[in-house]
Amino acid sequence: MTRDPNLKVRVKSAKGRKISSTRWLERQLNDPYVHEANRLGYRSRAAFKIQEINEKYNIFKEGQCVLDLGAAPGGWSQIAAQYVNENSQSGQVLAVDILPIDSLSGVTSLQLDVYDENIIQILKDNLKKPKADIVLSDMAPSTTGHKSTDHLRIISLLENALDIAEEILEEGGVFVGKVFRGGTESDILNRMKKNFEKVRHVKPKSSRSNSSELYVLGLNYRK
Ligand SMILES: C[S@@+](CC[C@H](N)C(=O)[O-])C[C@H]1O[C@@H](n2cnc3c(N)ncnc32)[C@H](O)[C@@H]1O
Repeated sequence: MTRDPNLKVRVKSAKGRKISSTRWLERQLNDPYVHEANRLGYRSRAAFKIQEINEKYNIFKEGQCVLDLGAAPGGWSQIAAQYVNENSQSGQVLAVDILPIDSLSGVTSLQLDVYDENIIQILKDNLKKPKADIVLSDMAPSTTGHKSTDHLRIISLLENALDIAEEILEEGGVFVGKVFRGGTESDILNRMKKNFEKVRHVKPKSSRSNSSELYVLGLNYRK
């Protein structure tokens, strides 16, 4: 990142624009990861988070089948697609979101709610291989502002992603899930420790330091 941090863009509040929107705009304009994502054609600054996780844990390999839950607008899928090569026999990135995802090269996308009761069958019908090598979940609920409701929703999405991973992951596979500090309840961690050889927490540099977001990694899935 080469932007001069002293060149800060200030956004004047405008009539009709909420203070929170002005702050959001100012943060976007001053965020080097937003600029870099635009320069490289990534759909989101979130792309750098999975890239950093991959640099540290070397999770992606050519020919793998990757399931990306909560994939919109598509930054993580773009990074995964760079590694797995959809043109190879087994390589695939299957991107799922409740929102539509504009088409992306090397990515198959599905507009689907992970709480859909037929999700496992739908995923199996759309995967190139019977099982996925990697399950990613950057899913986040829309926040209500009510702390305990938001907390429960976050935990529920992570549990749901783990339920899916346990049905869909190949032996030796990898799981990456978004959590929030204080949000990885001990029973989720215990469940992951039973099912994966190693469990790690990661806070990528590109994840805003003032955000309580972090990621939990499960390496080497054991059925
Ligand atoms: C932080 S964004 C993901 C950003 C993405 N990783 C990227 O790199 O562009 C979180 C996503 O989770 C999705 N999401 C939330 N609840 C969901 C659900 N029940 N089913 C599917 N996707 C969901 C949201 O629609 C949103 O697009």
